Amino acid sequence: MLIVENVRFSYASGVEALKGVSLTVKDSEFVAIMGQNGAGKTTLIKHFNGLLKPTSGSVRINGVETTKTSVATLARDVGFVFQNPDHQLFSETVDDEIAFALKNFGYEAEVIEKRITWAVNLLGLTQYRKTSPFMLSGGERKRVALASVLAWDPKILVLDEPTIGQDHRQKENLRQFIMQMQTQGKTIVMVTHDVEFVAECNPRVVLMREGKIVADGAGKEILTNPVLLEQSSIVLPQIAQVFAKLTGQGFPLDIIDIYEAKDLLMEKLRRRS
Ligand SMILES: Nc1ncnc2c1ncn2[C@@H]1O[C@H](COP(=O)(O)OP(=O)(O)O)[C@@H](O)[C@H]1O
Ligand SMILES: [Mg+2]
Repeated sequence: MLIVENVRFSYASGVEALKGVSLTVKDSEFVAIMGQNGAGKTTLIKHFNGLLKPTSGSVRINGVETTKTSVATLARDVGFVFQNPDHQLFSETVDDEIAFALKNFGYEAEVIEKRITWAVNLLGLTQYRKTSPFMLSGGERKRVALASVLAWDPKILVLDEPTIGQDHRQKENLRQFIMQMQTQGKTIVMVTHDVEFVAECNPRVVLMREGKIVADGAGKEILTNPVLLEQSSIVLPQIAQVFAKLTGQGFPLDIIDIYEAKDLLMEKLRRRS
């Protein structure tokens, strides 16, 4: 469980990036944090593994206040994948990169080898095990960063803009992978402005604006609210745009799922024929 209580945070520059944020994420929940650039999303999630500490208010991870423990200890529970993988990667090979944290956590060589094999397999990186992460594409580096975090099996996974640099197929893999993590009971918090990706995943959506949370609810609710999205410079998912243009046809107003959309349209066609 992740409990954020009335957190304010100011950078040394004087910018107040969080202006009283409260948020609870329960175990096994899947939450997408959305909002325009500079809304405070990254600042907020950096509080989840203690990289940043609140100026006032508190953040508790599984009952432990982040000010009362170390980033290293928190990392055991909270796996954080940065928006820019270059802030995270430093080893000479993909293998070494993934092994690094595992060694730090004191795993034995055999276990480490198994975990690496599992993680590279899962993220389609097997052929790059002996390659330098810096020889890889941006999207591949992001997957290396993700693999190195997953390898130690944290309970909470925090992903900052995971879809950037990923093509359509890789995004679909990422979605499948997130769903799989969810069925394993992991808590997932993802920051993204990729509205189509969020529509496909259909998580709980937390919308931030100017250092505050302005909406929090089911993906279906928030991603079909044009006024709310407009205020955050987010466009409606395409499916929602189609149904917004079909008002008066008796369709529900909260459709973001492509299969639900198909079923509704097929049903309508059947009735007409
Ligand atoms: N390291 C930093 N030093 C000073 N100000 C920062 C720093 N990082 C972010 N900010 C400012 O804090 C605000 C929130 O930024 P950020 O959390 O990165 O937003 P988001 O991830 O939603 O785009 C912005 O005004 C940004 O300019
Ligand atoms: Mg950000």
